[in-house]
Amino acid sequence: MASRSCLTIILAAGEGTRMKSSMSKVLHEIAGLPLVGHVVKAVQGAGAPHEESSDLAVVVGRGAADVQKAVGKISDTARFYEQTERLGTAHAVLAAREALAEPHDDVLVVFGDTPLIEETSLRAARGKLAEGADIVVMGFRPENPTGYGRLIEQDGKLVAIVEEKDATDEQRKITFCNGGLMALSGKYALQLISAVKNDNSKGEYYLTDVVKLAHAQGLNVIAIDVPVENVIGINNRAELAEAEALWQARKRRDVMFSGVTLIAPETVFFAHDTLIEADVLIEPNVFFGTKVTVESGAVIHAFSHIEGAHIGANTSVGPFARLRPGAKLAEKAKVGNFCEVKNADIGAGAKVNHLSYIGDATVGADTNIGAGVITCNYDGYNKFKTTIGSNAFVGSNSALIAPLTIGNGVYVASGSVITDEVPENALALGRARQVNKEGRAEILREKYKAIKASKNK
Ligand code: UD1
Ligand code: MG
Repeated sequence: MASRSCLTIILAAGEGTRMKSSMSKVLHEIAGLPLVGHVVKAVQGAGAPHEESSDLAVVVGRGAADVQKAVGKISDTARFYEQTERLGTAHAVLAAREALAEPHDDVLVVFGDTPLIEETSLRAARGKLAEGADIVVMGFRPENPTGYGRLIEQDGKLVAIVEEKDATDEQRKITFCNGGLMALSGKYALQLISAVKNDNSKGEYYLTDVVKLAHAQGLNVIAIDVPVENVIGINNRAELAEAEALWQARKRRDVMFSGVTLIAPETVFFAHDTLIEADVLIEPNVFFGTKVTVESGAVIHAFSHIEGAHIGANTSVGPFARLRPGAKLAEKAKVGNFCEVKNADIGAGAKVNHLSYIGDATVGADTNIGAGVITCNYDGYNKFKTTIGSNAFVGSNSALIAPLTIGNGVYVASGSVITDEVPENALALGRARQVNKEGRAEILREKYKAIKASKNK
């Protein structure tokens, strides 16, 4: 297909009143990414194979600065237009008039609160433009069409979209509905949208009216049928949770088809950017925050919470492990139960198996960190680093007071409090020497018994 230029306009100026939030609706997150971010990602994906230039315009209103910031993290070319009054979807699109006036083959109008839109649907709509359609409306068939604009078709062409409030009883029986998203030929987009009037029951400028305007001009207008979830709009937190569930279900399926075993998929939660290689096994009840990568052969045991971490090949994590940002496990490393690792490199084959906190640290290859070892990285004001060499053994319940360096092959005796550098292959003891007092236990028992008896008199 010849390359076609495209302008995508994302409408994100809505009030979002029903979210009952101090934050703009489109900034609420699914899988750790704002709703509008999901839309931007789908748009970017839909653009790639078709054209050399793809422009993005975002129409913002409430919380404009924060929305700009969120979109700016994903797209460095997006332009922003403010819609100061909420006068309808056509009015919103015209806020980006300057962008619309530029020559583009295709114009896509999408909503910032439909996070489950897929690139395949956007591409399908653009494909129809490439084949000669002038407007392509993304229709869908919801179980309950109440509230949606109805698609009025004649001989395979779309002749009008009638909003629920303006529809006759007969029209309300139609189940093919407007998903809200639309692709327009760049030749006609500005002219058609500018011609929309607000003579309807809501007194709003409806984008949907371009359909009857285009039809009257003899243009080729069609509707395509996209999967329902693609056009689900989020209006309140219950719908946010439902969309999260749908997103997670999609991701779990994708992950499993790519070769990852999930024993209880419905209990594993991914972030939008989680990357997992084939032949990873994930046990039940695991949560992935953002920025996690997992290499092949890793096993993530039940009830682990992981964010900002890299988990190397053939490692073992959990059960009940917490990997925080900057945790990096080299191959065959183990981080076991009730361990927390933050901003730390755990070397190949190293073991942190029980009840430890390792933060701001490097642990060398094949080193063993005993149960309950703590890197004391914080003095209440500043953070300090602990460096532990390879093939070392840190005995259980030791406190390592950073800044600290422990050399290769060192032995740290259990229960030590280590404050000074330990040179390679040294044995470090940082605890009081044990004293045994013969027979003293019996004397103690008699003494305590007497005290109790005197109290009970
Ligand atoms: C719209 C469609 C309807 C469709 C439904 C699908 C119109 C006239 N109607 O109705 O046919 O079935 O979506 O969900 O288009 N927005 C602005 N500025 C405005 C008005 C809206 O930015 O002045 C944004 C909103 O933030 C939202 C989107 O446009 O993201 C859609 O607006 P909304 O009010 O939800 O339209 P619906 O009544 O749902
Ligand atoms: Mg809506």
